[in-house]
Amino acid sequence: PVLRLDGICLKFGDKRVLNGIDLSVVEGEVVVLIGASGSGKTSLLRCINLLNVPTSGSIVIDDETLFDRRADGKGAQIPAHEVNRIRSKTGMVFQQFNLFPHMTALENVMEGPVIVKKEPKEQARQTALKLLDLMGLSQHIEKYPRQLSGGQQQRVAIAR
Ligand SMILES: Nc1ncnc2c1ncn2[C@@H]1O[C@H](COP(=O)(O)OP(=O)(O)OP(=O)(O)O)[C@@H](O)[C@H]1O
Ligand SMILES: [Mg+2]
Repeated sequence: PVLRLDGICLKFGDKRVLNGIDLSVVEGEVVVLIGASGSGKTSLLRCINLLNVPTSGSIVIDDETLFDRRADGKGAQIPAHEVNRIRSKTGMVFQQFNLFPHMTALENVMEGPVIVKKEPKEQARQTALKLLDLMGLSQHIEKYPRQLSGGQQQRVAIAR
């Protein structure tokens, strides 16, 4: 598997939102989470890049254990500088796209590779152009999020 979650638990205050979720995803596999509104789908996805920090459970990406906390709360704590590296191994399309409002579609897609992964700008630009074209957005690369429809913004977020 490229991603393995084991026993992910998450609480918000006293409220138990996730109760021991296991999930394994192999390369190229497409997995769909289905559940009632408020059942915890977004919370689980946010755990994978530590936007939510699980109360217990483990996260393994590419055979590297990125997070492992036992039920008693003991276990490896992640140093702050490691969190960005962990996040750079994942991508997320937010439910409310969260595009950077002051950047064009193209700049939104280039930002992560250039700032976090230190890719040369021209290389990031070429990749971004390709991905935006795949999403049918070649006409819209210089537009700002507010100038795009909801579906177009969502596809920029997918390209990003
Ligand atoms: N930051 C938070 N603090 C407290 N409770 C939260 C927080 N975020 C989510 N919750 C609660 O956790 C539960 C799961 O929310 P989550 O957003 O994961 O649901 P979801 O399955 O993605 O729902 P939807 O289908 O509506 O997007 C909900 O009851 C929600 O109210
Ligand atoms: Mg949700």
